[in-house]
Amino acid sequence: MTAPTDIKKVAVLGAGLMGHGIALELAAHHRSVHLYDVSEQLLHKAVNRARVGLKALNQAGLISSDEIETSISRISISLDLSETVEDTDLVIEAVSENLDLKRSLFHKVDKIAPPNAVLVSNTSTFLPSALAVATQRPSQVAGVHYYNPPHLLPGVEIIKGPETSNDTVELLTGFYRSIGKSPALIHKEIQGFIGNRLQVALLREAMSIVRDGHATAPEIDQVVRSRMGKLLSVAGPFELADNQGLDSVLALAESEFPLLAKDRSLPGILMDKIHAGDLGVKTGRGFYDWTVESIEAWRKNMADSLIDMATHDR
Ligand SMILES: NC(=O)c1ccc[n+]([C@@H]2O[C@H](COP(=O)([O-])OP(=O)(O)OC[C@H]3O[C@@H](n4cnc5c(N)ncnc54)[C@H](O)[C@@H]3O)[C@@H](O)[C@H]2O)c1
Repeated sequence: MTAPTDIKKVAVLGAGLMGHGIALELAAHHRSVHLYDVSEQLLHKAVNRARVGLKALNQAGLISSDEIETSISRISISLDLSETVEDTDLVIEAVSENLDLKRSLFHKVDKIAPPNAVLVSNTSTFLPSALAVATQRPSQVAGVHYYNPPHLLPGVEIIKGPETSNDTVELLTGFYRSIGKSPALIHKEIQGFIGNRLQVALLREAMSIVRDGHATAPEIDQVVRSRMGKLLSVAGPFELADNQGLDSVLALAESEFPLLAKDRSLPGILMDKIHAGDLGVKTGRGFYDWTVESIEAWRKNMADSLIDMATHDR
């Protein structure tokens, strides 16, 4: 059986927002990375983005300056799928969110990758079982859901499909721990996994509060940032519940549960914006109005804060 330390060569399919971050983190942890995409231009762009990410880690004191180019030298690029996966121990798929595309890649990779190789997908939407059917090795297929930016957020969800073996789960858990991640296992695949379900539940409630005129979006963001966000960056909801006292949690649940949003239909407050073409930062307006300067400032603040947290976690 393959041990976590045996995973030395990793293929990353898709060199976009997630793929380049996944690749840079693996390379910084001394793994040899084969990066694959559909054009040379995209692959070179991904390597440049990886270099920018590594420089930021260096500026924060998380890696030495020598490690920037040493890590980059561990990333090879290719437009040839066979060359990319033929000698790898782990294949991480991070291509565009399209089931047919992902299935077709899993089908091809299954035929080329070494028999021991484990195949995982970073998809946010599709269950491991939907991809495992395209292969002859369903016991070696799982979901590994990263968050963006993958190299700065330690959490990954490892999603076990109905046919994923315990050996595969153990291998992935051990491997991700060995590169400094905090893997959480989803024992039985579930749509939305854990993170997206919780995030969407919070957003549904927040949108219902705005819709009913109790508070504005900036006021809700302020409450989350300054109060629960701070607590949740230290403890999970069950730890907080135990510390609050389950009797108090019960009292809260009794009074609040009947009042919470339980809409099954898409919220009007969201759909109105979608129909108006207000898609958030990409169009300059969503729940807030955005300018080039405010987008840049927001992104810088987010990146600086995540790097601060990563520094603190070390
Ligand atoms: N963006 C996020 O915050 C986030 C978070 C977690 C998971 N994900 C998941 O990660 C995956 C990638 O998302 P992203 O945000 O990096 O998207 P992206 O659009 O930035 O990157 C996708 C890449 O896949 C490439 N690609 C498309 N077809 C391909 C093919 N046939 N072969 C090889 N490469 C191909 C594209 O050229 C592109 O570079 C998706 O499944 C998404 O659901 C995204």
